[in-house]
Amino acid sequence: MAVYDVGGRSAIVSGAGSGIGRAVALELGANGASVLVFDLNGEAAKKVADEIVGAGGIAVPFDGDAADPETVGRSVAAAQDLGPLRIAVNNAGISGESNLIGDYSTESWRKVMSVNLDSVFYALRAQLPVMVAAGGGSIVNMASILGSVGFPMSSAYVTAKHGVVGLTQNAALEYAKQGVRVNAVAPGFIRTPLLDDTIEATKFLADKHPVGRLGTPEEVANLVLFLVSDASTFITGGYQLVDGGYTAQ
Ligand code: NAI
Repeated sequence: MAVYDVGGRSAIVSGAGSGIGRAVALELGANGASVLVFDLNGEAAKKVADEIVGAGGIAVPFDGDAADPETVGRSVAAAQDLGPLRIAVNNAGISGESNLIGDYSTESWRKVMSVNLDSVFYALRAQLPVMVAAGGGSIVNMASILGSVGFPMSSAYVTAKHGVVGLTQNAALEYAKQGVRVNAVAPGFIRTPLLDDTIEATKFLADKHPVGRLGTPEEVANLVLFLVSDASTFITGGYQLVDGGYTAQ
């Protein structure tokens, strides 16, 4: 586990009930942040918050939809109750339908855009002014290697993640002088419930990474912790890979 001091500040992590978000929330809690554990699955959020508190940290569960602007506004207010909001990890996401573009349903396209891209806009819009008022902060948006390359049968996901990268760059440019850093993190394929976990699918995906395996949520959380800590104060607007060499090919 990485060690970077993030004490004395509150942090929002969306999609924190499972996978990468859960690992990020646990690391932030272990390193001193007060964590708002935000997830659509309220039970999962409560379980993760309990884990953080059980390990001696500070955390509160927040049950809601990251793709709803009003809920996102409430999440910022709830985090502010824990301390000045200086950290946000906008991580909630879904994989969506697997289909060729010619057969892709409008419903799934809209759903993926809403959860994977609109949610990041709503989050940034609510978080940035509050962080400026708090004297600065650091935001990580969860993109993907599929924020820079394509992947057949995943057009909505790929498009949304490319959008997250552009939005991250714009936010970084607009708020750099006001002390808020904004970066995108780009994981390769990570072993979480988001992935098809059949043996064939796991082997197919693992073989695409030069290191010959999938990543772990903790390996992504280590990078996120570094980016939201004061160890990375000259890093903003970046697209930070954690991909076992996938995009170097
Ligand atoms: P996961 O499925 O393990 O966890 C996602 C969490 O987000 C779940 O707890 C779910 O309840 C929550 N969630 C879904 N929709 C939500 C909404 N509208 N509002 C609030 N919470 C919501 O997924 P995983 O793998 O941890 O993914 C997290 C992020 O990482 C996603 O943005 C995903 O696109 C990204 N990512 C994942 C990769 C992978 O291979 N697992 C690779 C690259 C990026």
